[in-house]
Amino acid sequence: MASSSSILLFAALLALVSWQATASDPSPLQDFCVADLHSPVRVNGFVCKNPMEVNADDFFKAANLDKPRVTNKVGSNVTLINVMQIAGLNTLGISIARIDYAPLGQNPPHTHPRATEILTVLEGTLYVGFVTSNQPAPNRNKFLSKMLNKGDVFVFPVGLIHFQFNPNPHQPAIAIAALSSQNPGAITIANAVFGSDPPISYDVLAKAFQVEKNTIDYLQAQFWENNHN
Ligand SMILES: *[C@@H]1O[C@H](CO)[C@@H](O)[C@H](O)[C@H]1NC(C)=O
Repeated sequence: MASSSSILLFAALLALVSWQATASDPSPLQDFCVADLHSPVRVNGFVCKNPMEVNADDFFKAANLDKPRVTNKVGSNVTLINVMQIAGLNTLGISIARIDYAPLGQNPPHTHPRATEILTVLEGTLYVGFVTSNQPAPNRNKFLSKMLNKGDVFVFPVGLIHFQFNPNPHQPAIAIAALSSQNPGAITIANAVFGSDPPISYDVLAKAFQVEKNTIDYLQAQFWENNHN
């Protein structure tokens, strides 16, 4: 009895530990580990610069996050400050982004494989939402959405597909988001699926999306241009 319950406990702990390892950045083992971006040594993250050579500028970036950005084809621009911009973020499990939205612009459906995101609206209004992972009915791929006003805060749980849309046809919107990784990563669903290089076979996509092959051709053409021009 004792040994089987300790095996169960061990399995539960192992599941917990491996879940933590894949869902969020590991905890730091020292005050800081400023990334040495030029080291040839490959580790999970970056090796530490000599702490005696660390100074305040390793934790600083004149990022102009107060300034508006030009927006892209879908009407948004994400300015992410991650470990590549501030080497001091290495091992600290956090990053920040400014997101600009044109009138009727959107930050299209995407996921961050390594981070939960907490977002606040600085200007304008945003219609935001996320979809839960595949679950048994009646909760399968449940869509949770909300209209946010200036000053409101919303959370997008790690890994889940989410978006923000500016419903105002006349005014831009601005948000600031914090993310629980030094390198959250982003997968924009449409671009990844229809704009991969090389393209995913349209036999695969036509079946997956349950449409005719020429619909897939059409979609791939849009995203091939987006991703590769
Ligand atoms: C996003 O903003 C930056 C900074 O203003 C700019 O350099 C970049 O071209 C913009 N991206 C797009 C897609 O417009």
